[in-house]
Amino acid sequence: MTSKTALPLRPAALRLGVNIDHVATIRNARGGLHPDPVRAARQAAEAGADGITAHLREDRRHISDRDIERLVAEVDRPLNLEMAATDEMLAIALRHKPHAACLVPERRAERTTEGGLDAAGQQDALMPVVAALRDAGIRVSLFIEADRRQLAAAVALGAPVVELHTGAWCEAMLEDPAGAAAARHLERLVTGAALAADLGLECHAGHGLTFDTVGAIAALPTIAELNIGHFLVGEAIFGGLDSAIRRMRALMDRARATAGGQRSA
Ligand code: PXP
Repeated sequence: MTSKTALPLRPAALRLGVNIDHVATIRNARGGLHPDPVRAARQAAEAGADGITAHLREDRRHISDRDIERLVAEVDRPLNLEMAATDEMLAIALRHKPHAACLVPERRAERTTEGGLDAAGQQDALMPVVAALRDAGIRVSLFIEADRRQLAAAVALGAPVVELHTGAWCEAMLEDPAGAAAARHLERLVTGAALAADLGLECHAGHGLTFDTVGAIAALPTIAELNIGHFLVGEAIFGGLDSAIRRMRALMDRARATAGGQRSA
């Protein structure tokens, strides 16, 4: 007899990319070799990271060229290279051929990546960079705001992946988790993640995520990957990197499993 009971929909797997930039920030504060971001990447892999993310900035304020070389050669996890869409960075990406390249906006004076890439306004400049990365077999992602115009531009550019910028929502959550701004930003992310999937884009998210905020984003069923760095490196000071990553992973998995349950028929 065939059971008519509908099985719960299996939510898509959710990957964790651990961004190790700020291990390099601490190393560079003294100019030596310790702490080594490659060692952190290996530990992250052991703790459950599915991938490693590193941003080679134009000013090399944290990750260095040598770090990228070593992350590709020595770490048994796919590397997601965050980079500005410049000739210099494109040449580096083509030389190292990371698994993925995430194009981010970059201004020298900013403390961190502020706001998403204006993919809609810079289509002509981005087009050859996206094409060259794709031709080299590198999975291209665009770090954008959860905005219909930007998502449509990602499709027009032929980028298979977008990463939705969660920074503004995380900041609003710090100020007032129950406030209207936080609700508005979250709604935008919810709509954007659904629209990305409708447009055939693989959807990632990241920036500013913490133990308190990761659940709401992990629960969005179309999100395939979260990239998290600063908070994990900060938490590592108190309880170790391994335990911070394991806890983040558990929070993500729990939120995703619960969301799957809610979607079951
Ligand atoms: N995703 C992208 C594209 C980023 O630029 C960053 C910051 O380097 C992150 C994710 C990670 O953000 P955070 O360090 O705040 O977790």
